[in-house]
Amino acid sequence: MRRSSDNVVRFVSSNRHKYDEALPILKGLGVRVGYERALLQEVQSDELAVIAREKARNAHRRLGMPVIVEDDGLFIEALGGFPGAYSSYVMRTIGIAGILKLLDGSSSSSSDRRARFSAAIAYDDGSESRTFEASVRGTISEAPRGEKSWGYDPVFVPDGQDKTFAEMGPDQKIGASHRTGALRAFAEWYVTSA
Ligand code: IMP
Repeated sequence: MRRSSDNVVRFVSSNRHKYDEALPILKGLGVRVGYERALLQEVQSDELAVIAREKARNAHRRLGMPVIVEDDGLFIEALGGFPGAYSSYVMRTIGIAGILKLLDGSSSSSSDRRARFSAAIAYDDGSESRTFEASVRGTISEAPRGEKSWGYDPVFVPDGQDKTFAEMGPDQKIGASHRTGALRAFAEWYVTSA
């Protein structure tokens, strides 16, 4: 494994929210991490791990330092897994309102609104490339709930909770989120393979 001279791994993303939630997790697990804002080109694939791996490869080529990148997707059962790996595009186009419209008629009391939020974290340092994945299961709420949120937070209710991610405080959201499991798996590997 190649380390940078300052032993910091760069979290590369155009989305600062991801880094803000990743920082306390990684710090707590002994990983030194910094934010590098960049819009990375995505390969087209249905698999988050493939997208994340290629983005990390590009990010490392661009920066010449050890990097991690994250790719996420919301997979809704009643929609055959849509928007999945296309969640970012769908957010920019039809948005939450469009997703709720597609689910119109799907009752919250049945399994129709079941979904999973998944995260893939990819590490690349030019000699080593690894991916780590995790998911959280939940349901899509019937209307957006919560303030000061981002992305799909206002409509995703993780199992075992009655609040959407957007209704939770930062610590509760981090504790329940898909990115935490993937980051933990990465950190466990990273700190033990120095
Ligand atoms: P991306 O392709 O990895 O950027 O993520 C796919 C979509 O999911 C984007 O619209 C993100 O804003 C959204 N997203 C990823 N993680 C979260 C989260 O924790 N809460 C809300 N939305 C998220």
